[in-house]
Amino acid sequence: MKFILEKKDPNSKARAGVIKTDHGEIQTPIFMPVGTAGSVKAVHQRELTYDVKAQIILGNTYHLYLRPGLDILEKAGGLHKFNGWNKPILTDSGGYQVFSLAGTRKITENGVIFKSHIDGSKHTFTPENVMDIQRRIGADIIMAFDECTPYPCEYGYARKSMEMTHRWLKRCIDRVDATEGLYGYSQTLFPIVQGSVYKDLRKQSAEFVASCDQAGNAIGGLSVGEPAEMMYEMTELVTEILPEDKPRYLMGVGTPANILEGIALGVDMFDCVMPTRNARNGMLFTTEGILNMRNEKWKDDFSPIDPGLNSYVSNFYSKAYLRHLTISKEILAAQIASIHNLSFYLWLVGEAREKIKSGEFDSWKRDMVKKVSRRL
Ligand code: GUN
Repeated sequence: MKFILEKKDPNSKARAGVIKTDHGEIQTPIFMPVGTAGSVKAVHQRELTYDVKAQIILGNTYHLYLRPGLDILEKAGGLHKFNGWNKPILTDSGGYQVFSLAGTRKITENGVIFKSHIDGSKHTFTPENVMDIQRRIGADIIMAFDECTPYPCEYGYARKSMEMTHRWLKRCIDRVDATEGLYGYSQTLFPIVQGSVYKDLRKQSAEFVASCDQAGNAIGGLSVGEPAEMMYEMTELVTEILPEDKPRYLMGVGTPANILEGIALGVDMFDCVMPTRNARNGMLFTTEGILNMRNEKWKDDFSPIDPGLNSYVSNFYSKAYLRHLTISKEILAAQIASIHNLSFYLWLVGEAREKIKSGEFDSWKRDMVKKVSRRL
C-alpha cells in the first residue's frame, strides 16, 4: 500500500491524497460504507459501485469469522471473490465488536474469550489469531487487535487498557511480519490509538503508534458517547503526532458534521453504520439537511428526495413515495434510503476533496456543517 499526499489546505489541517492498494486506488478523504457480514445492508455491489461510487468497503472480523467462517471464505478465494467486490476492503479486528456484541467475555493479557452472539459458542481472539483470521478473510487493510474503552472510563482502567493494547499491537506487528497473504496481493496493518478522553494517554498512545512505523494509522475509542467537542479535541491532539505521510483513519465516525470536522483536523478515512442504519429507520441525510421520512409533511411532496445530489435514486424517487414505502415497511424503502444516504456521504467527502484541492475547504466546511446538520 502506498499513500500519496497531494494537497494540504492552507487554513486547516485538511489534506487530499491517494491510497494505492492492489485492488485499486482510494481518493482521500474517503468514507467507507460498512459491510459488516460481507454485505453493505440493502445495497447491491453494482449499486455500491455505480450509484454510491464507493471506493472501499469495510468488513468485520468478528462477524465473518463466526459466519460464514474462515473455511468457506478461504475456499471462495477470499472475501473479494466471495462477495464480488473487487475494490479495496478493510476489515476491523473484532476489538470493537467483541466488546459491544459478544455475550459474556473475559479479557486477559493473552486475548479475549467470548461467547458468540449467534449460538453462544465459546471462542478466543488473540492478537496473533486475529491477524491470521484477517489474512484468511483477505482484506487489503487489516486492523490491529485492540480494546476499545467505553465512555465514561476511569483513568486507571484507560491507562492499563491502553498499555495492553500497545503490547497487543507489538504482537500483531510481529505476526503480520512473520506471515504472508494467502491470495497473492498485499495486506497492510493499521495500528489503533487508544487512551479514552485523557490527553496524556492519547499523546502517549499516538507517540507509541507513530513509533511503530506502519503504513497507516487509526484513531479508536472515540464516538462512544463522549461529547463531540471532546472527540475533536482528542482527534486534533492525535493527528498532531501521527506522521503526515501516512493515512489517518478515525474509526466509527460519524455524522456528516463529524466527518467534516474530522477532515479539518487531518483525518483521511472514516466509517460508520449511521448512513445505512439510520436509512433503515427512515432518516435521510441530504444536501439540504436531515429528513425524517415518517413525517407527515412529506406525504404529498412529490419533489425528488435530493435534487442537489447527482445520484439515481435521489432524483428518480419522490419524498412522498419514499414516505409511503417507509410507513408501509416496504423493503424498497430501506434500499432507496441506504443508497441515497451512502451516495450523500460519498458526495460529501468528494466535495471536501475538491475544496481542499482548490484551497477553499475551510470556508466551505463552515457553511456545509450548518447546512447538513439542519433538521427539515
Ligand atoms: N470501531 C470504532 N471504534 C473502534 C475502536 O476503538 N477499535 C476498533 N477495533 N474498532 C472500532
